Amino acid sequence: MSKKKKFARESFVSMTELVLPNDTNTLNNLMGGRLMHWMDVVSAIAGQKHCNSIVVTASVDNISFRSPIQLGNVVTLKAKATRAFNSSIEIRIDVEAENIPEGKKVTSNSAYFTFVAVDKKGKPVEVPEVIPETDDEKEYYNGALRRRQLRLILSGRMKPQDANELKSIFDIKN
Ligand SMILES: CC(C)(COP(=O)(O)OP(=O)(O)OC[C@H]1O[C@@H](n2cnc3c(N)ncnc32)[C@H](O)[C@@H]1OP(=O)(O)O)[C@@H](O)C(=O)NCCC(=O)NCCS
Repeated sequence: MSKKKKFARESFVSMTELVLPNDTNTLNNLMGGRLMHWMDVVSAIAGQKHCNSIVVTASVDNISFRSPIQLGNVVTLKAKATRAFNSSIEIRIDVEAENIPEGKKVTSNSAYFTFVAVDKKGKPVEVPEVIPETDDEKEYYNGALRRRQLRLILSGRMKPQDANELKSIFDIKN
């Protein structure tokens, strides 16, 4: 039986949060951990929408905080599936911070989270393929295999010499 396919856009989720005093550090800026929690939640929902099943966070790629998000800012997190493999799915999250009274918006950061679809016993189950449509979706889809191999190497689940997509980066000849 052929594998089920779904459009990337079908998984899209947007979540909006207001930065309140309890979310901030002593400089009145948003705590990194709070932002990562919101990123985990929004991307897990996108993963569930794509897979129509329970998903668990398997890994989180590098997250860099470019500029502080201030108390009172409105944070919008947008998440969408980029590519699915067997039981795992990569989700991209884009974070934007807005100072509404000043009319200023900044792109805070982007990241990729990987989820695994599981059954009620926590056993991985097959996920539908992702069909990219827009130029951005195609770019994220095409880069996903490289990112997957890199994270599997970093987590000790793949040997660098087996990572076909990354051989040039690691200067592996065979
Ligand atoms: C994620 C989990 C289900 C994987 O289980 P497993 O027995 O290792 O399953 P498998 O070896 O069959 O791997 C299943 C998939 O997970 C992916 N995976 C496992 N660890 C991964 C990692 N660190 N990074 C990226 N993908 C990972 C595998 O590549 C595989 O993907 P594929 O099916 O698309 O090829 C299991 O490790 C787990 O339940 N972890 C805890 C999840 C959790 O509680 N998250 C919240 C943290 S508080």
